[in-house]
Amino acid sequence: MKLFDVYPLNDITITKAQGSYVWDENGVQYLDMYGGHAVISIGHTHPHWVKRIEDQLEKIAFYSNSVHIPIQQQLADKLGKVSGKDDFQLFLVNSGAEANENAMKLASFHNGKKKIVAFKKAFHGRTSLAVAATDNKAIVTPLNETDNVDFLPYNDEAALKRYFQTNGKEVCAVIIEGIQGVGGINIATESFLQLIRRLCDQNDAVFIADEVQCGYGRTGKFFCLDHAGVQADIYTMAKGMGNGFPVGGILIAPHIQPKHGMLGTTFGGNHLACAAALAVLEVIEDENLIEFAKQRGMYLINRLKTIDGIENVRGKGLMIGFDVPEELKDLRKKLLYDFNIFTGEAKPNVIRLLPSLALSRKQSDEFLEALQEAIAELSPKAKKAGNVQQEEEVRTQD
Ligand SMILES: Cc1ncc(COP(=O)(O)O)c(C=O)c1O
Repeated sequence: MKLFDVYPLNDITITKAQGSYVWDENGVQYLDMYGGHAVISIGHTHPHWVKRIEDQLEKIAFYSNSVHIPIQQQLADKLGKVSGKDDFQLFLVNSGAEANENAMKLASFHNGKKKIVAFKKAFHGRTSLAVAATDNKAIVTPLNETDNVDFLPYNDEAALKRYFQTNGKEVCAVIIEGIQGVGGINIATESFLQLIRRLCDQNDAVFIADEVQCGYGRTGKFFCLDHAGVQADIYTMAKGMGNGFPVGGILIAPHIQPKHGMLGTTFGGNHLACAAALAVLEVIEDENLIEFAKQRGMYLINRLKTIDGIENVRGKGLMIGFDVPEELKDLRKKLLYDFNIFTGEAKPNVIRLLPSLALSRKQSDEFLEALQEAIAELSPKAKKAGNVQQEEEVRTQD
């Protein structure tokens, strides 16, 4: 049977991983500045994470949500402590799209309304509602198209105010990434997030923070929204939550009340996923990874700003992006195939860095040096010099 061919693949097979490195089948080592798309939070195969999953596996891996699963409560307690949101409620799911899907459903159950405000360049996942709130026509099927979602320009306070003046009472929820990931590392301003909070309060709308990529400590605070001193009504989480074990969740403010049967999932909150998620939080706490990500991010951003050739370096903590000019368009490929470094991208010309929160100083320097060399080799001057040299070599061969 063939695999359904939807992924454009790099021609690499990874067979081993540890910390911020992965190895291919030929034993070649790669530095992972991409974290498998912001998923690797505490580092590949962290020994505490491996041990906790193994120990849990020997006891019980799964039972459905028809019985008590005490490890879910342990996870909720720990998450409340590490995130500072211990008065919130936790609902566990399996992925980022599922988290956003449930967040929007819950908002609509809560206030009985159906208009969702999302933003240009947003990415919220590929399930029905999540994709309808995603600003990419290419992945929205006719079946997902809906008039219930309106897209407004990101960070445009005047447009948001105007929209609420006319449609405010109909708005069920506003969903926003504090830093857009797939959209190219675009940072919401603090005053924009504060305005969303005010408008949601005034109009009985639910503020949903999609923290699937920018949350879980990546930006140097547990939630990206914490930088703005703003509290959402629902936070959605996934990627970094399990360090590669599939697990997602939503944190729900106390004023939103549950009802039996209103949400549900077979696999969400299974024993193994909770063990993985607990291990992640324990390591984040023990190794002080949120502060670590903040410091490491500042170091990387400051150094990147001094590098000629790349433009518009931006980000917070270890969620960083920069623009690559046309003449360096092969930079990401070069980093991967010539320097053995994985980075992320955002179309058309952004390189995204989403490494493990435990990236070391030495690994950061390794990346920065490689980046400078790669830029030098690709830059038009270097290319010209290279061509002259090649021509000379050809002539001498003659
Ligand atoms: C901000 C954001 N929300 C939601 C998702 C969807 O998550 P998943 O792929 O786990 O469904 C992603 C994935 O990239 C994301 O970046």
